[in-house]
Amino acid sequence: MIDSHCHLAAQQFSGDLDAVLARAKAAGVERMICIGDTIEESEDGLRIAEKYEHIFCTVGLHPHCAKDFGANTLEVLRSLVASSKKVRAIGEIGLDYHYDLSPRDIQREVFRKQLILAQELSLPVVVHCRESVEDVWSIVDEIKPSSLVIHCCTEKWSDVERFVKRGYLLSFTGIATYPKSEEIRDTIKHCPLDQLMIETDAPFLAPVPHRGKRNEPAFVVEVAKCVAEVKGLSIDEIDRVTTENAERFFGLPDS
Ligand code: NI
Repeated sequence: MIDSHCHLAAQQFSGDLDAVLARAKAAGVERMICIGDTIEESEDGLRIAEKYEHIFCTVGLHPHCAKDFGANTLEVLRSLVASSKKVRAIGEIGLDYHYDLSPRDIQREVFRKQLILAQELSLPVVVHCRESVEDVWSIVDEIKPSSLVIHCCTEKWSDVERFVKRGYLLSFTGIATYPKSEEIRDTIKHCPLDQLMIETDAPFLAPVPHRGKRNEPAFVVEVAKCVAEVKGLSIDEIDRVTTENAERFFGLPDS
């Protein structure tokens, strides 16, 4: 099993990362993708990926931090990618109109620039989309990235069907396990198996029955269980296909 999106460089893991990784291993989580939200987190995540063979990483600027995008940001991202084969994608990037922590026009500009960077570097993109699906689509439709995942997908199927028709992936978190998440489970039902990934987004959004606690990669098993139930398939089958999808999407070496 692969946790396709976790923030291992977050300060919540600074005290006990080895124990967290040991529990992930014991739960059957063989590999994970450590996500960058800021330049600092991207650099820290790359250090973690360099230290552990089974961890890979992404680099990018989250829409919350779009206002921090500077004259040399693209250059810094480019040099991080060039410095290590462990960097497997640009992300997480996108638009967040829920918190609006950066002005929307700047979010859109920074998203567009990082999508173009990913094309230039032939890397897939990990997209954050919150209350912004129309603008995310219009920018994606303009740049046409070759490989993209909507991470932590909470959208209804009618809003994300066009992404799936374009060949892009959807990735689901522990939010899918919450009682009120019927709309998300409906999206899971519609999402083709070969375009679906699972993730924790740890340390946030712990799935049932760990809800309210710090989330960690071992808990991705609960997301797999939820997807298996919605799809009417075994956990082993969901494990197999989501692992294959993540390996293909991030271009991971054979383990
Ligand atoms: Ni995230």
